[in-house]
Amino acid sequence: DGKPEGSESSGAWAVYSWTTLEGLFLAVTGTLALSVFTAVLGSLTFGYNIGVINAPQKIIEEDYNATWIHRYGEPIPSGTLTSLWSLSVAIFSIGGMLSSFCVGFISEWLGRRKAMLANNLFAFAAGSLMGMSKVCRSFEMMILGRFIIGAYCGLASGLTPMYVGEIAPTSLRGALGTLHQLAIVTGILIAQILGLEMLLGSEDLWPVLLGLTVVPTVLQMGLLPFCPESPRFLYIVRSQEHHAKSGLRRLTGRQEVGDMLAEMKEEKRRMDMERKVSILELFRSPLYRQPIVVSILLQLSQQLSGVNAIFYYSTSIFMKAGVQSPVYATIGAGVVNCAFTVVSLFLVERMGRRTLHMLGLAGMCISAIIMTIALALLDSIPWMSYISMLAIFGFVAFFEVGPGPIPWFFVAELFSQGPRPAAMAVAGFSNWTANFIIGMGFQYVADLCGPYVFLIFAVLLLFFLIFTFFRVPETRGKTFDQIAANFNQHSAAGMMDMDMELDKPSTELDYLGDESIN
Ligand code: GLC
Repeated sequence: DGKPEGSESSGAWAVYSWTTLEGLFLAVTGTLALSVFTAVLGSLTFGYNIGVINAPQKIIEEDYNATWIHRYGEPIPSGTLTSLWSLSVAIFSIGGMLSSFCVGFISEWLGRRKAMLANNLFAFAAGSLMGMSKVCRSFEMMILGRFIIGAYCGLASGLTPMYVGEIAPTSLRGALGTLHQLAIVTGILIAQILGLEMLLGSEDLWPVLLGLTVVPTVLQMGLLPFCPESPRFLYIVRSQEHHAKSGLRRLTGRQEVGDMLAEMKEEKRRMDMERKVSILELFRSPLYRQPIVVSILLQLSQQLSGVNAIFYYSTSIFMKAGVQSPVYATIGAGVVNCAFTVVSLFLVERMGRRTLHMLGLAGMCISAIIMTIALALLDSIPWMSYISMLAIFGFVAFFEVGPGPIPWFFVAELFSQGPRPAAMAVAGFSNWTANFIIGMGFQYVADLCGPYVFLIFAVLLLFFLIFTFFRVPETRGKTFDQIAANFNQHSAAGMMDMDMELDKPSTELDYLGDESIN
């Protein structure tokens, strides 16, 4: 029936895992592994800069104050300090918002690989500015650096999933796509640990902590020249059949790549018949309207789930929840975050994107409700602090099962080569805008609502769960062309419901052009 053999029993699960592992070894060549690893170094930098600002807040604020005294001979007014700090945090998302909008244009102009290469210049500029801001006694440099590193992350958040999605074999697109998120969460965790006061989060060393962001960048610049450009881009967009072929050979380790090329030819033939897809057209054309709405809502479900309320403000949330050592609880959340991304990595090709996303949203919703009850009862029942800590860990764990990794690579899956860059730009922009809103707004709303603030997220999560149930299709095991055809069929028929029947996962590990699944 198209399901992986024996998905029910545990013995069969072992067989399945073994098949997956075996398939991984067969399908993942050295070049593919190197290319994916190199690309997700960008995601690592992204995560590092999400996490790096949380722990050393007080120490950096003291330096802002010292600069103020040096300049004006008096301590900084507390309102000014709060504004400067909020700006230092939030300007990161503004950089991301602006640059993510340019992902489409830059990835078409320079190609995926050169775009990633060029993006590193931003990371260098930003790392230097932030690393030197203390010696130069300039919080302006720090703020500018945060803006530029935000711009780097905005581009990386589009370019990495796009490149990985395009070079991955169909049957591993989800698993390899999840590596983007795995690298993000690893970056967050590294930053949380290095940010401890006894490591780099100290008065003298915080500039090193912020400057370290250039390390993965240097590594990526050294490795990118050894990675092939995306063959889909070379062939479908640039019409360079010869180069595309040699890239495919390197990525698959096979000499005979005719079947994969044939699949791309079909996609190219269709694309050549369409006009170039602009951002405006994504919304106008009935062909793209449904997938773009799904893409935007998935991004919103990721950000408006409230996960960054935890990652930006965990210390104060844990403190309010009566947890003894909030800094270590934050690191605990980081560890849970990483562990469950790995769980998702192993489940995503087995259970599918749709199911995991729904499971994640539902789990987060329930965790948010438990957290609220625990916080509300904290004054009368002290051990509720443990329950709220567990609920926060559960919230994060369920996030990484679906809403964390899936939206990032799902957009690349929903669109074929023509509209993909514009769609990634729109999706990235939605993600970063929502990120900014949570980053700026959460604390105000939390002050207003007290322990009930997570109920807002519970309601939003429920809405996204219902939306996913009715509107989000399964993409596992299908080629880009099949996914697009699925949408087109429905828009042509004037139907809005997605056809879940098409969900027949591939049982063998194919590369891009698997015709056996339908
Ligand atoms: C996702 C989100 C990011 C969040 C992270 C937490 O990558 O895009 O905003 O901080 O997950 O793990």
